[in-house]
Amino acid sequence: TAFNQACSRCHGVDAVNKGQVGPDLLKMDRSCPRIADPAIRQMCILDQDDFFLKSVQEGKTRVGVVHMPAWKEVLPPAAIWTIRTFLESRSR
Ligand code: HEC
Repeated sequence: TAFNQACSRCHGVDAVNKGQVGPDLLKMDRSCPRIADPAIRQMCILDQDDFFLKSVQEGKTRVGVVHMPAWKEVLPPAAIWTIRTFLESRSR
């Protein structure tokens, strides 16, 4: 519900991207599972978590243009992690 309220207009309902303005978030986590070394794989996942949290909290601004609004005043960290878990569960 949180995802569809806050994110779906740019990332697709239930994160199914049908040409919306934002990138396909179900493709974010494809690279880490392919890493054979467990320690490096874990580092990759932590790095992705960090990138996800920062992306959502700060939004995305390039050369002064807001491509994605910041959510840190709207969504507490627990809600952002719940959205992340939702996305991971649907990742393909
Ligand atoms: C107004 C449209 C809009 C809304 C609403 C929006 N996003 Fe985005 N989002 C974007 C765009 C556009 C980008 C790509 C921006 C860029 O890379 O410069 C992006 C990028 C991202 C990224 C980085 C993805 C990557 O692989 O680089 C994440 C993570 C993300 N959004 C998550 C979310 C979540 C979670 C929500 C809901 C809380 C959300 N977004 C709401 C437009 C939006």
